[in-house]
Amino acid sequence: MVTRINPSILAADFANLERDLGRIRSADLVHVDIMDNHFVPNLTFGPPVVDRLAQVSPLPFDLHLMIENPELWAPGYAEAGAFSVTFHAEATTNPVALARRLRQIGARAGIALKPGTAIEPYLELLPEFDQVLIMTVEPGFGGQSFMPSTMRKLRTLSEAVNKTGLDIWLQVDGGITEETIVIAAEAGANTFVAGSSVFNSPDPAKQIALLRAAANEHPHAH
Ligand code: DX5
Ligand code: ZN
Repeated sequence: MVTRINPSILAADFANLERDLGRIRSADLVHVDIMDNHFVPNLTFGPPVVDRLAQVSPLPFDLHLMIENPELWAPGYAEAGAFSVTFHAEATTNPVALARRLRQIGARAGIALKPGTAIEPYLELLPEFDQVLIMTVEPGFGGQSFMPSTMRKLRTLSEAVNKTGLDIWLQVDGGITEETIVIAAEAGANTFVAGSSVFNSPDPAKQIALLRAAANEHPHAH
């Protein structure tokens, strides 16, 4: 199984982002949380900051858009070269149109679901996406506790993805530690966002290796 570890720079030192990007070069992608203070009650980065960070980052970007009107912003991030752009299901009425636009531009298209959002309406749309993000905390802030109640949804999704035969990445985000990553891996996740567990560690590279090893020891059963 391929396991991807994407550290979230929401937990990095905002006065030293270039330095902290250099500390996570053994990861797979850099997870960048874009918040607009409308979809979630917090505000982070916008296009000029993301553009500049991408110039100094050793790894490509996995953008998580926690914003209203993703149609207005997501294509611009894709055009700027983001590896993947994930928007929230709750923020759009036409996820398929937006995903198609992102793929046309050349980015991987992702859809994210808040903990309370059901997966069932999206199962028949799976081929339209390269990644599905199951939020394991309420979006908005780092440092929250993993919600095991979201694992049932992840299992349903994992089974549906396996039936498609497509290589759709299953991402979890929120409260991922060496302990909770095992639970998520067993439920079918293969792409893991980790903010505070990586950046609060004195040795982020070592923590990335520990997370990767923990996930690989417990791959899902399907
Ligand atoms: C929360 C963000 C997460 C956050 C995860 O809304 O989407 O990416 O940075 O942080 P931790 O790993 O600390 O829960
Ligand atoms: Zn995120």
